[in-house]
Amino acid sequence: MSKRIIAIDGPSASGKSTVSRRVAEELGFCCVDSGALYRGVTWLCLRACPKRLDAKGVLGALARVRPEFFLDARAVRFTLDGLDPWPELRSEAVVEHVSAVAAIPGVREWVVERLRGMTVFGDLVMEGRDIGSVVFPGADFKFYLDADESERARRRLLENAAADLSSVKSSISRRDRIDSTRKAAPLRVAEGACVIDTTGLGVEDVVRIILDKVRAGGFQ
Ligand code: CDP
Repeated sequence: MSKRIIAIDGPSASGKSTVSRRVAEELGFCCVDSGALYRGVTWLCLRACPKRLDAKGVLGALARVRPEFFLDARAVRFTLDGLDPWPELRSEAVVEHVSAVAAIPGVREWVVERLRGMTVFGDLVMEGRDIGSVVFPGADFKFYLDADESERARRRLLENAAADLSSVKSSISRRDRIDSTRKAAPLRVAEGACVIDTTGLGVEDVVRIILDKVRAGGFQ
């Protein structure tokens, strides 16, 4: 039987991760944070070829890596060459380089193939930038979460008390710019996606909007 897919896309810090986890929990689906895989590839390259974060160095490191995917509390997690990159995925170095690494077409092909394979785990809520447009264009439901930039910076700051507002703001807008102007699978609203402006909404408000829509469409 084909697996049911809910795609949730949107720019940095638009609330995708928290909302996706909650929606998956309510529906008994597994959730996939596709950005974590781009961050993981970046982490790998910073270890394997720190002086060669160009396409050649990055693709060379990817050709050698052995990834393993597994479920942890219904979230898909992974190791790379047996190592757990999770604690490092939000480090400054990874944040600084991830959008450039994710813009390399060969990296996207590698990641997209693995994301598509994650249906082995079950029905999925997958979040990212190109899930509804490229990874699963035939997803059962597509959502695009947005929020104004100051609100997104404020949310990111709450996750990292050590940061300061202006540097968080500039990091978010730099990544948004790279993500939405790159040639390969730029951030955009997928055809047929329901756009939700989450500015001023709490997590549970957004979860409710999504659940109402998917339940009205037959998902229980
Ligand atoms: O948590 P946040 O929204 O800030 O970022 P993320 O979802 O962890 O994604 C990190 C980076 O990975 C993004 O800035 C994109 O450059 C890239 N990404 C992508 O290109 N395509 C995806 N489907 C997911 C993430």
